[in-house]
Amino acid sequence: MDYRSLGTSGLKVPVLCLGAMTFGEANDASFMHKVGCDEKTAFAIMSRALERGVSFIDTADVYGQEGLSERIVGAWMAESNSRDRVVLATKFRFRMGEGANGTGASRYRIVRAVEESLRRLKTDRIDLYQIHMQDIETPEEETLRALDDLVRSGKVLYLGASNYAAYRLTDSQWISKSEHLHRFVALQMQYSLMVRDLEREHIPVCSKFGLGVLPWSPLAAGFLSGKYAKDKPPPPGVRLEKWKQGFADFDNARGWGTLDAVTSMAKEKETTPAAISLAWLLAKPTVSSVIFGARSVAQLDDNLKAADVKLTADDVKKLDDASAFDLGYPYKFIANVQKRW
Ligand SMILES: NC(=O)c1ccc[n+]([C@@H]2O[C@H](COP(=O)([O-])OP(=O)(O)OC[C@H]3O[C@@H](n4cnc5c(N)ncnc54)[C@H](OP(=O)(O)O)[C@@H]3O)[C@@H](O)[C@H]2O)c1
Repeated sequence: MDYRSLGTSGLKVPVLCLGAMTFGEANDASFMHKVGCDEKTAFAIMSRALERGVSFIDTADVYGQEGLSERIVGAWMAESNSRDRVVLATKFRFRMGEGANGTGASRYRIVRAVEESLRRLKTDRIDLYQIHMQDIETPEEETLRALDDLVRSGKVLYLGASNYAAYRLTDSQWISKSEHLHRFVALQMQYSLMVRDLEREHIPVCSKFGLGVLPWSPLAAGFLSGKYAKDKPPPPGVRLEKWKQGFADFDNARGWGTLDAVTSMAKEKETTPAAISLAWLLAKPTVSSVIFGARSVAQLDDNLKAADVKLTADDVKKLDDASAFDLGYPYKFIANVQKRW
């Protein structure tokens, strides 16, 4: 497994990160609504991933129900004695408690959220602590100061952001710099051949400020695994069979054209569509590690093939072209004019 620096920080992470969002199925009301896996399978997936060099796990307080995913990761680390062998990432920000202060990124909420996560994860430190989404009701400086205190106290080692608007991320980096606060060194965003929106603004921001990009849903929730086919209903029991709107978003000419390009490249390189889709992200220079999901050990093994795929510049261009998207104004205008003048 190759390692990369997390942005311009000193932390090295494997290029593949195991997402724990699907771990734990409390009941139908749980976070993933029965498209995850049970605790026993989650343990098997984490053990196998670590054995194969995936020593980076991403969870969140809100995954599972009432912190179930964090509790499963904590129990597995304790049982397998693996805490010091993994880079452990979690998130806070969404609702975990009652009332006006049971959600958000205020100092009040952060101080409680971190203690609750540490307890569930059975650890004394979180390696990468991420805000799950910007909080427009809390000044960025309040959030950054509270997080900076956590780093100074040793409870948290590195800070990351997720689901931020680019203007807010830029502002955040400047506040950290001018106020001498620890800054976000990573940005976790939805990024795949199907969803490339962050190429407009976020990728240039990350490149300028030295943040490592951590793509989430890199297989477009399974669409790019190759198990979906045009004009056929999704296989029963899988995520995009249950999440109708998610499937409808990809069930179009661009979606099937992209999948065709991925599938034919997988055949040519004797690998899997999932491996090609993950390798395409790894070919993007600001990406530090790709956070993929797996509901079974078989899916995990399929996805880990990405570590052995090497795409040429020509391969990347073919996939870029097949998944081309409308840049919109002013990005298209800027790109066209920049080329000519
Ligand atoms: N920051 C955020 O807001 C945010 C949001 C979402 C996710 N994330 C992070 O990103 C991680 C990954 O997200 P994701 O689960 O959406 O990623 P994904 O890799 O795009 O999708 C994973 C799903 O695709 C299917 N799949 C995966 N590999 C497969 C294979 N080889 N063959 C067939 N099907 C396969 C499985 O679902 P089925 O078997 O049901 O088809 C699996 O649960 C999460 O665990 C979490 O850590 C973060």
